[in-house]
Amino acid sequence: MKPFSLKAFPLKLGVLPIAERKTLRLTYISIKREGIEMPKWYEFELGKAADILTRELFKLKEGEVFVITADTESDERVVEATARAAFACGAKPMVIWLASPLGVGKAADPMLPIDALVGALRGADAWVEFNNEWLLYSTVYERALKENPRLRYLCLVGMNADMMVRCIGRIDYQLLGEFLEKITELTRNAREMRVTTPAGCDVTFQNPPDMRIGYSLGYADTPGSHMMAGQIGWAPIYETINGKIVFDGSVVPPIGLLKEPIELTIEKGEIVEVKGGREAIEFERWLKSFNDPNMFKLAHICYGFNPGAKLTGNIVEDERVWGCTEWGIGSFRGRPAATHCDGICLNSSVWLDGEQILDEGRCVHPELAELARKLGKQ
Ligand SMILES: [Fe+2]
Repeated sequence: MKPFSLKAFPLKLGVLPIAERKTLRLTYISIKREGIEMPKWYEFELGKAADILTRELFKLKEGEVFVITADTESDERVVEATARAAFACGAKPMVIWLASPLGVGKAADPMLPIDALVGALRGADAWVEFNNEWLLYSTVYERALKENPRLRYLCLVGMNADMMVRCIGRIDYQLLGEFLEKITELTRNAREMRVTTPAGCDVTFQNPPDMRIGYSLGYADTPGSHMMAGQIGWAPIYETINGKIVFDGSVVPPIGLLKEPIELTIEKGEIVEVKGGREAIEFERWLKSFNDPNMFKLAHICYGFNPGAKLTGNIVEDERVWGCTEWGIGSFRGRPAATHCDGICLNSSVWLDGEQILDEGRCVHPELAELARKLGKQ
């Protein structure tokens, strides 16, 4: 659709009565918006998704203060739908728009009004983050959660109308909860693991006996930090990770959606070789640029299982694509590094102590397969 042009709207406002000028201005704003984005795109579905977010996932109550943060790269439709739904719950929505920082997490700090943001969040009961250049792990995030122990935070960074409908509005939370609980339990009980993909991944590792493994179901009804539904993450015993990891989805940072695979050779949890084309060269240069040996160490693995997620280049969605595995590299709990990045391996096959549960992204474990089918994924 072509953007609205002033040339196509030559009327002079000054010659019209005030009431008509107002109508004309509203028409102009409406047409202008129509030119930039499709105003009806998922409008009804987005309303339902915002209702689920505020009423079900946040369990907002009458009188609660609900802060919505966004930046100038965020989707305004998502922000407005969420504010409307929160208001309809009887909560007090407060929308905070920020200039987009030139980085995420701590890298955003120099451009943020830190004290003002923390001040607002100290007075809030709940906070949803829609920022594209995210505040997660920034000083604002750390201080807000520390100084306001009742705060319920949900990370929905980079959210747009399309993703909100698919990944939040159309989810059967009861079923997905059962699925995530089951695969988490199976993985927690497994010691020896193997993961392969059609792109060439073939990696083995051991899980620690007292492993911390958790899944996100997207609820933010208890104090603390919460993530969007459909991801399960844990840290294997690093020294036992050996083989090939081939990223064929996205790598964030520094690349985004990949045009060609990047192959990593892993020995005892460390990247010893990076192979591929131009993007592999770029990725290796980026890792080396930090001059930090911990940037070549693996941090965690995750499964992606959000029934609505698709590969878009937004890492929050990509890492939830059904049947993918994700590897984190760099900083992690108890092991600082210059930064952290995540890479996606699509259509994973997974063996737990020799028993295959996933075959190229499809569940083959009978209980998981049944739940996946109900979720529309087989
Ligand atoms: Fe990660």
